[in-house]
Amino acid sequence: MPFRSGIHFLQLPGPTNVPERILRAMSKPTIDHRGPEFKEFGAKILKELKDVFQASEYVFVYPASGSGSWESGLVNTLSAGDKVLRFDAGFFSEMWGLVATRLGLEVQVAPWDWRLPVDPAALVKLLTADPNHEIKAVLIVHNETATGVVTDIPAIRRAMDDVGHPALLMVDAVSSACAMEYRHDDWGVDVTICGSQKGFMLPPGLSFCAVSSKALEVHRSTKGFRSYWDWTDQMTFEETGYFPYTPATNLLYGLEEALKMLREEGLQNTHARHARLGEATRRAVEAWGLQNFCSDPSAVSAAATSVLMPEGTDANLVRTICLEKFDMSLGGGLGRLNGEVFRIGHLGDVNDLMISGTLCGVEMALSIAGVPHQSGGVGAALEFLASQ
Ligand SMILES: Cc1ncc(COP(=O)(O)O)c(C=O)c1O
Repeated sequence: MPFRSGIHFLQLPGPTNVPERILRAMSKPTIDHRGPEFKEFGAKILKELKDVFQASEYVFVYPASGSGSWESGLVNTLSAGDKVLRFDAGFFSEMWGLVATRLGLEVQVAPWDWRLPVDPAALVKLLTADPNHEIKAVLIVHNETATGVVTDIPAIRRAMDDVGHPALLMVDAVSSACAMEYRHDDWGVDVTICGSQKGFMLPPGLSFCAVSSKALEVHRSTKGFRSYWDWTDQMTFEETGYFPYTPATNLLYGLEEALKMLREEGLQNTHARHARLGEATRRAVEAWGLQNFCSDPSAVSAAATSVLMPEGTDANLVRTICLEKFDMSLGGGLGRLNGEVFRIGHLGDVNDLMISGTLCGVEMALSIAGVPHQSGGVGAALEFLASQ
């Protein structure tokens, strides 16, 4: 790699920039995870995490990436052959479904438009067509990181309640947690899936799984094929501040600092900051004359924007130019969107000038790549940021 001056712009929708404060916190010496110091530390983190998810029952923490939490939710509440329902609403909904299939679950896939949020009315139809309640869980991704489309979780809950369907509601909040409002208890979510490397501003390596009392009840009566992920083990230890196995202690130091930063900013302010940076990004995209992949203006994401390329142009060329010329990483199109979109992350430890610099890099790369567009995207974003 050639020498690079200045900072690298890590503008992916995860992993996101890890603040210095968190890196420093993680550099402390590792302590005995069965000792008295850890007991207090572990209990404190587990308690504070509940505030972020607004969850009053347990939040389990695993040394794993977000995918581990997908598996944890499934193996703790379902048995092979059980049916789950998912909408084909994006790459991560697809991957979650794949995990379920590999675990021996029957996955009912509702065809969907990747550019739109899941419609609660469509869910009502599907659940009404299941009078024997064969569907045991509904899997919904809150913020589809691949598309930048947000589904309204309270409306999904209401749809399930309206038809009186007892399926568990499992929600992937991997890229929504911290970036936008999320209320595990109030929204009636049974299992919330999350990871550390996005809104939590941590490196990859921790996953979180918040559960409801109903999910715990189902767990107790489900004899799944599980060991590492077992919630009963987690609960037994969590009461004491310890973990069933060696925890990722230094990532937990980072988590302690991240929780402190979120408290200092105030969660609502964190959400407002994300919304503002998302709006600035969308104004730039619109001024360039390009399209936001999310086609429903009420479902745009505060965490990431997927930019749809004009016919005959290559999103990956724009990303390559950004990396090679401007030392900036953007997200690529995932799965069927490869080459068709690039994704701008405005998630985690990001401020006005970081997003402005990001948009400058994108605007220059669009010109260099010869992508037909109008100039003035950066200007539109700056005007918005300056006016707020
Ligand atoms: C919405 C969503 N769910 C799940 C995952 C998978 O998480 P991980 O890559 O941490 O296993 C990701 C990763 O980007 C994601 O964005």
